[in-house]
Amino acid sequence: MNESLLSSARILRCPLCHCGGSFHSGSFICEHRHCFDLASAGYLNLVPQQRPGKYGKSSFQSRAFVFSAGAYLPLVKRLAEILSFTPFSPDFCLVDAGCGEGYYAARLQSALRVPVVGLDIERDALKLAAKRSQTVAWLVADLSNLPLKDQSASAVLNLLSPANYGEFARILRPDGLLAKVIPGESYLIELRELLGGRLRGESAAGVEAEMLFRQNTSDCRVEELDYRVAVSETLAAHFFAMTPLSFGRELSPGALRSLDSIRIHLKILTGRQP
Ligand SMILES: C[S@@+](CC[C@H](N)C(=O)[O-])C[C@H]1O[C@@H](n2cnc3c(N)ncnc32)[C@H](O)[C@@H]1O
Ligand SMILES: [Zn+2]
Repeated sequence: MNESLLSSARILRCPLCHCGGSFHSGSFICEHRHCFDLASAGYLNLVPQQRPGKYGKSSFQSRAFVFSAGAYLPLVKRLAEILSFTPFSPDFCLVDAGCGEGYYAARLQSALRVPVVGLDIERDALKLAAKRSQTVAWLVADLSNLPLKDQSASAVLNLLSPANYGEFARILRPDGLLAKVIPGESYLIELRELLGGRLRGESAAGVEAEMLFRQNTSDCRVEELDYRVAVSETLAAHFFAMTPLSFGRELSPGALRSLDSIRIHLKILTGRQP
């Protein structure tokens, strides 16, 4: 069994009754006997009644393809630097809330050698994540009802995923770090232009996300990462398929052939408990 999952028992809580628990023969069982099975793939499912996800397997596979091309390496490196300024106490724990197919959680665990929990609501994401690393505790979990005890996390990452600031504040320690990544105005701009714009609404969403972050943290800092990734038509197609931009939409045949690079423009927001 994944040792990282076993040792995460001390910080887990039942999503139904919010009590602690422990592992017994392949299941996490809480003090009220609610039982959650470990999947043979190597993750723990703490969302008993799954609804079909918005992303789905092929979008996570496309995300993995884009990561394997190194497209987000500059972001991983910057996150590792930011986290390395946080003191690694013996009970340090990093939580990636909305970890998708696990790229950042796995890379950061191997770079920093600290305990990491990666969680996401979609089981298809965790199936891929569990293949990436055996040294991350992978959870199917809902970030609006995190199966983690109060003040159990030293740092929470929330990368291009929905936030729940109430839950982040509950699980973070008093000096804990919250790092959120949101798209900048020119993120994947070439793909947005091929789809015919809608940029004004999206940049308003970015302003609102940043404002919400500032309202929910203290000592907030914002920095930007802005670079281009050279793309083949295949890589461009995976970029398109991995983002919600593509959901329910199609590009005209050959549209991606015209692209030779894609812009990655991100904002990294960091803050502490208010
Ligand atoms: C755009 S993806 C980003 C994934 C990953 N952070 C990355 O950058 O590759 C957004 C992720 O948020 C997850 N998500 C959405 N709502 C969630 C929720 N309520 N609880 C946990 N994860 C959620 C989705 O399943 C998806 O994996
Ligand atoms: Zn319970």
